[in-house]
Amino acid sequence: MAKSTSSNDSQLLDKIVSLSKRRGFVFQSSEIYGGLNGAWDYGNLGVELLRNIKDEWWKAMTYRDDVEGIDAAILMHPRVWEASGHVENFTDPMVDCRQCKSRYRIDILFEDLSVKKQKDILRDLYPDKFQGQQKDEVITEAFAKVVESSQNEMLKVLNCPACGLKGTFTDARKFNLMFKTFVGPVEDSGAAVYLRPETAQGIFVNFQNIQSASRQKLPFGIAQVGKAFRNEINTKNFLFRTREFEQMEMQYFVKPGTDEKWFEYWRHERMQWFVDLGMKADKLQWHRHEAGKLAHYAKDAYDIEFLFPFGWGEIEGVHNRTDYDLSRHEEFSGKGLKYFDEETKEKFIPYIIETSAGASRSFMAFLVNAYNEEDAPTAEGTMERRVVLKLHQKLAPIKAAIFPLVNRDGMPDIAKKIEKDLCTAFRVFYDDSGAVGRRYRRQDEVGTPYCITVDSQTLQDQTVTVRDRDTMIQERIANDKIKEYLFNRLHV
Ligand code: GAP
Repeated sequence: MAKSTSSNDSQLLDKIVSLSKRRGFVFQSSEIYGGLNGAWDYGNLGVELLRNIKDEWWKAMTYRDDVEGIDAAILMHPRVWEASGHVENFTDPMVDCRQCKSRYRIDILFEDLSVKKQKDILRDLYPDKFQGQQKDEVITEAFAKVVESSQNEMLKVLNCPACGLKGTFTDARKFNLMFKTFVGPVEDSGAAVYLRPETAQGIFVNFQNIQSASRQKLPFGIAQVGKAFRNEINTKNFLFRTREFEQMEMQYFVKPGTDEKWFEYWRHERMQWFVDLGMKADKLQWHRHEAGKLAHYAKDAYDIEFLFPFGWGEIEGVHNRTDYDLSRHEEFSGKGLKYFDEETKEKFIPYIIETSAGASRSFMAFLVNAYNEEDAPTAEGTMERRVVLKLHQKLAPIKAAIFPLVNRDGMPDIAKKIEKDLCTAFRVFYDDSGAVGRRYRRQDEVGTPYCITVDSQTLQDQTVTVRDRDTMIQERIANDKIKEYLFNRLHV
């Protein structure tokens, strides 16, 4: 992840975290007990936004004839994680500070160092080589090389970020990120199971079940949305790296030899999904995994990255997983997982193209993407600063707010009637408190696309004003046409 945090950027993240809490998007888990690190609760508006993201993904991925859905169990047979390679490989190198007991993921410890600090460390280790002036690029490159070759040496001259002491780190150790628990009443190793660290394995082990039940032929996919758990050593940046999160994954099974074509196809589809839901093009980029740094199962891999306030970060991975997963499950389960191609009479293990997005991380990206502060006119004709979440209409938690201008002259009755009529089709919100300008601002701040106001003219001609969140332009619409008006614009 690139580091480009300016004070504005870190203020932006603070503003989003604060708005999220104040308006019911996201709360710290078990807050009244002091919170639990790496776990977050989605509040009254957050649950709507998250559900809308997952629904849009589900519609885009499964409302087509070549992708089926599944909802597999979180707990799986422990052999699944041996076959998948997670027991052996799903580890992060970690160090502890002997003095203050803080624990760090080693790459993050090195990643967060300024060039000046890197230079100091290099001088400490190699006084002859790094005296005098060197360009920043030279220092960064040399530092990266030493990190790779002499990690433990480097740890000896590094200060602990928490207590500031030098030389207090243990050597690097492997730390498995899977949460372990036990099935049944006895907590012995024979009863140990894991909380799934990815939803993908529930798809692989059901490949044949789904294929025979749905009578799909290659190429076809299986999609799943669900919780995943990783005992991350360092959680940070709000929802970006958490211990409990949701994934939206799809595994597309293809004939070997056609994998590269389908890989390109899904890369395009997945990037377009974010763009179609309003992500700004300059906040999205591809990151290709270098050949030497590919995961143990991958032939090729790209991340879709989003420009967060703290730098570029992955929101989705598209991977060519080859026949690794099904071959391993065939080997470990002893059950044949080959596909029989009726046309060519061939039997083979399909290749898999995976699209793996974080629902929680995308949630954060959509919030950052939507957050705007701009000048807006008040009812008195002066200007004021408004916060507006320009969320795509399909994602907005509330689709329309309904206001009676004043709480008399029969306006609340009309407004209530409109609310009752709309709430069967859309999530709407009724608000009759405070000046109408304040009510608009409250809705802008949570991204409500339309505000409908019943005023004195409504009493004369049965029309209301409908105000657009982004342009702030108001139109008069007949009361009995509001539902149609919203259907035409919201496309829900
Ligand atoms: N099945 C492949 C897989 O799980 P991954 O790159 O480890 O690949 C996929 O994860 C996506 O899941 C990431 O792009 C990210 O959006 C999300 N994700 C992974 N770890 C996460 C964490 N600790 N907190 C929040 N989201 C996470």
